[in-house]
Amino acid sequence: MMVVPVRKLREGDRLGAPVYFNDGRVLMPKGTVLNISLITVLGGLNVDTVLIDNMAAGQKQSAYPVQKAEELQRAAYETVLQVFRDVERSGSFQGGAVMGLATELAAFAIEAPVFPPVERLEGDGSKWSELAAHSAYVCMLAVATGRQLPYTGQHLKMLAIGSLLHDIGYITDKDRAQSRLEHPQKGYDMIRRLPDLPLLSAHIVLEHHEELSGKGFPRGLRGDQVRLSAQICGIANAFDRYRHGEQLRSFNEGIEHLLSKIEISYDGAAVRAFIQAVSQ
Ligand SMILES: [Fe+2]
Ligand SMILES: [Fe+2]
Repeated sequence: MMVVPVRKLREGDRLGAPVYFNDGRVLMPKGTVLNISLITVLGGLNVDTVLIDNMAAGQKQSAYPVQKAEELQRAAYETVLQVFRDVERSGSFQGGAVMGLATELAAFAIEAPVFPPVERLEGDGSKWSELAAHSAYVCMLAVATGRQLPYTGQHLKMLAIGSLLHDIGYITDKDRAQSRLEHPQKGYDMIRRLPDLPLLSAHIVLEHHEELSGKGFPRGLRGDQVRLSAQICGIANAFDRYRHGEQLRSFNEGIEHLLSKIEISYDGAAVRAFIQAVSQ
């Protein structure tokens, strides 16, 4: 069963719930197999979406977003891993590949009927691959959350760029343990040197460890001083770090961890949007 926008209906789709006239009478009962004229009728009604439940077209439609989301996460992983390697080698990187990936991801988030949660990738053991897998996953979770709010396509693109690069400040240091408090500022400085990358994306990198209570870092910002987009990235980051830290924790433990931080670390509406996004 899936919610499908009327404009995306195809011949052969089967209604999973009745469609009603305004006065409550049934126009099309559950189980109706749609043809062109019925789809045209639906298009003329004041109905945005319908429930579709059929084996043929419905399965194809639901498989497509899952496969596409997995492809995008893989592309995000490969893109950010290359960025990390470029930064390690030269101290900087070209923003073009990140911009292209973010454009595609935002378009998918706007157009797909659902944004299915993806399974997190694992690093392949090579240097920076685990950080790249984390970054790609945080990016997917953040965009899925922004889609719930709902953000515009342009805003989703900036959120994708900032979330994908949120930990890039680690790459400049040989000793990651010493750079934890500094990596947001280092990442911000690196991104600001690239004029093509949006300012909001740089601020997401700078603020992703800030918390509403003022106990975050690097600046100890409070409340509304922390941008919502940075909060979304921070929530996605905390969820993955909590679940894949020194000990592995379940999905539900990750959610409970976030719920316990509402209004202390994170905005309640942003946490609820995140939970909606990962529960689809
Ligand atoms: Fe971080
Ligand atoms: Fe992170």
